Amino acid sequence: MTTPLPPWRQLLRGARQREGRSPAARWLQLATTAPDGTPRVRTLVFRGWAGPALLDLLTDGRSSKLSELAHQPAVELCWLLPRARSQFRLRGALLQLSGEALEQQRLHHWDQLSSGGRAVWAWPHPGQPLDRQAGFAAALPDGTPMPVHFVLLRFVLSQVELLELEGHPHRRRRWCSQSQWCEQTLNP
Ligand SMILES: Cc1cc2nc3c(=O)[nH]c(=O)nc-3n(C[C@H](O)[C@H](O)[C@H](O)COP(=O)(O)O)c2cc1C
Repeated sequence: MTTPLPPWRQLLRGARQREGRSPAARWLQLATTAPDGTPRVRTLVFRGWAGPALLDLLTDGRSSKLSELAHQPAVELCWLLPRARSQFRLRGALLQLSGEALEQQRLHHWDQLSSGGRAVWAWPHPGQPLDRQAGFAAALPDGTPMPVHFVLLRFVLSQVELLELEGHPHRRRRWCSQSQWCEQTLNP
């Protein structure tokens, strides 16, 4: 038996569809907490759903966000879908994956990338001073072995909040996994 999708999944899908071919449909912001307690935020590409409330992102294991997540696995993601004038805020935590299942999932994502998309994992250590001698590959052909620092970030979502600016007044709703994703309406 398949688990039913939380109600916000259909709304998010509809808002993403309204973006058409715009890359905004796949870009979201990931907020983490640095070990000193200060916030960090950056844009990532949405890589798909691994379950009703499991969201996949890909990153470089040498980037700062990995040490931030090791220190504090709780995150917030912000997904702005401008054509639908909708903002989704998703709270969750990094899921600890290991073993054969993790390797399979990583490989699945690695194989799905375009040769250009894969290339960034062949670049020198992100965030270090620019190394002008280093090579910055533009493409990595199919069959290139997956680097160890190719990291799958899988987040288990526990709360989703949607703000829609279309109509008057604005509309704000929240769903929590704890309450079986039951919809709560809020003042905007
Ligand atoms: C449109 C866009 C998409 C991006 N997609 C990703 C991505 O999928 N994964 C990733 O690790 N970084 C991605 N980045 C780069 C990150 O925003 C960030 O600069 C990088 O991951 C380093 O972040 P950190 O130092 O906070 O770890 C993207 C940047 C932009 C502007």
